[in-house]
Amino acid sequence: MNYSNIKEASEFIQSKLTTQPELGLVLGSGLGVLADEIENPTIISYNEIPYFPESTVSGHKGQLVVGELEGKQVLVMQGRFHFYEGYTMQQVTFPIRVMKELGIQSLIVTNAAGGINESFEPGDLMVITDQINNMGTSPLIGPNDEQLGARFPDMSSAYDKEYVQLALQAAEQLNIKVQTGVYVGNTGPAYETPAEVRMLRTWGGDAVGMSTVPEVTVANHSSMRVLGISCISNMAAGILDQPLTHDEVIETTNKVKQDFLQFVRKIIQTLPL
Ligand code: 6GU
Repeated sequence: MNYSNIKEASEFIQSKLTTQPELGLVLGSGLGVLADEIENPTIISYNEIPYFPESTVSGHKGQLVVGELEGKQVLVMQGRFHFYEGYTMQQVTFPIRVMKELGIQSLIVTNAAGGINESFEPGDLMVITDQINNMGTSPLIGPNDEQLGARFPDMSSAYDKEYVQLALQAAEQLNIKVQTGVYVGNTGPAYETPAEVRMLRTWGGDAVGMSTVPEVTVANHSSMRVLGISCISNMAAGILDQPLTHDEVIETTNKVKQDFLQFVRKIIQTLPL
């Protein structure tokens, strides 16, 4: 994946559009419904786009939906690429590179995650304040293209502080309960053991998932402003005395769908781009 691949994908997408997208959104497991609410949508399947991988996981659709939401021009990824599916870190983060090339400077990433913080409950929404890369690798490994970003990018405000504050204000206005916390990115695909969950808690993690960290790392390398929202779909292993299933993840995200939709819409209304 080099600059000419990014450019080719970007030009392909641009050729399908009449407007300039200004905000990127990545929708996680069970949260793709927001894309269905976009006005005047242009839908581009991932498998049409040069150098885009294809999406495989259930609960993910695998298309870009571009159009208007709350008066803003948005480009939405309905479904993302996960490292555990066997894609390289460069493939997982390629769409973020393409968004930046399209002129998008702000990104909202969403995911379903397991709650590590014992004060959380399934169905909570969490505004991500910071992240821990526990994936054992980085999408930035390899030669650095200075056109794309710095060799040693700053990660001291990986999640934009102003965006966090705006999201919290939006939640307050809507009377929606939100948590804040640190997202830990694991590779998966197995969920954590109880011992691993205790370790992540001592590290300062509040929620754990299998995505987001690579995309946010590349977004920071690309000098984009990032807001992250986790839907706590279940508690991580060992916190409650019950096994974890992907069905529970989908079921809980279905329950909080309405709050999630309202919340993200309000954020899009107020977010300075
Ligand atoms: Cl408990 N762990 C991980 N790694 N990802 C998740 C999850 C747990 N729940 C939803 N996604």
